[in-house]
Amino acid sequence: MLKNDLILKAARGEQVERVPIWLMRQAGRILPEYRATRAKAKNFIEFVKNPELACEVTIQPVDILGVDAAIIFSDILVIPEAMGLPYQMIEAKGPWFENTIKNKADVDAMRIANAGDLDYVIQALRLAKQGLNGRVPLIGFCGAPWTILSYMVEGSGSKTFSKAKQFLYTQPELAHALLDKITKSSINYLKGQIEAGADMVQLFDSWAGVLSEKQYYEFGLKYISQIVEAIKPLAPVTVFAKDAHYALKKISETNCSTIGLDWTIDPAKARTEAGKNVTLQGNTDPCLLYADEKTISKETEIMLKAFGKQRYICNLGHGLYPDIDKEKVKFFVNFVKEFKV
Ligand code: CP3
Repeated sequence: MLKNDLILKAARGEQVERVPIWLMRQAGRILPEYRATRAKAKNFIEFVKNPELACEVTIQPVDILGVDAAIIFSDILVIPEAMGLPYQMIEAKGPWFENTIKNKADVDAMRIANAGDLDYVIQALRLAKQGLNGRVPLIGFCGAPWTILSYMVEGSGSKTFSKAKQFLYTQPELAHALLDKITKSSINYLKGQIEAGADMVQLFDSWAGVLSEKQYYEFGLKYISQIVEAIKPLAPVTVFAKDAHYALKKISETNCSTIGLDWTIDPAKARTEAGKNVTLQGNTDPCLLYADEKTISKETEIMLKAFGKQRYICNLGHGLYPDIDKEKVKFFVNFVKEFKV
């Protein structure tokens, strides 16, 4: 039994006594404690593959920041690796793939991953579930198929993801074949995460915003919809499609439990478009946390009142940035937990 299941209640549309809060990218980035644990591993990938260390940093934000959920420490790029495309994490630069997807032979060579291929994440989830001891729910996650394809084709981060978009325009059938394999892998992986103890899961579609609306429905949402359909009977699913709020109505039609919002949409407008039968999550601009406490309180109060207490999970509109002061984050979390909406 969970001692604090506010987030699950909110995701299921049940009444809550206060607004629950967790933060995207809460595990890592801002915590000195994270960096101390990370220093015990040779590099990022060894760190991700070490269930004991991953478990440690998963629980840190619950202890230190007082958030209402833990998110398993891993990365979205474990899926390309499990499918046959290994990555590296280059210090101060980000992900880098030695091989990328260019043609049919490359797509054919990708396998559909099983949860067993990602046993290190499954082990980390089991340990974290045990370590949390029912204090708060544990969130599992994966990248949404379009965002995963964009790394597999681009080979690294990018401002425009023009190579990945070129792939959609020039080889659409191949893109669909790859998206299909990623979708099947993600379903297997999320099922494994839930079996290992994840209470809810989130799909991160970080690069939804680089596609046109029409392309997003064809290459993005179609596959998200398949994942939601397969996973929703097992656990609540959150869809976070950054910069795609034109698609809110369609996202709500996937039947997901919760929609993650970035900060570019007004809460009332988001509610109108998404309808009443879905929980909304977001949408503080992470940069607000660079401001003084007075400004943080003022802006957060406006946001909380606009979303209201029910069917709402407080979060940021994207992940924390590494140079945000941990004390400001704590202030924000406490403000939300104490605020009477
Ligand atoms: O929320 C959490 O804290 C859980 C862990 C988590 C990480 N990555 C750990 C990580 C999660 C949920 C992710 C998701 C992820 N990874 C996304 C989607 C969310 C988003 O931010 O849009 C994306 C696009 C990635 C890919 C990725 N991983 C990039 C671009 C980078 C480099 C830059 C950076 O710091 O984000 C990573 C590395 C990474 N993943 C770090 C962490 C804590 C930093 C690595 C380090 O410790 O040096």
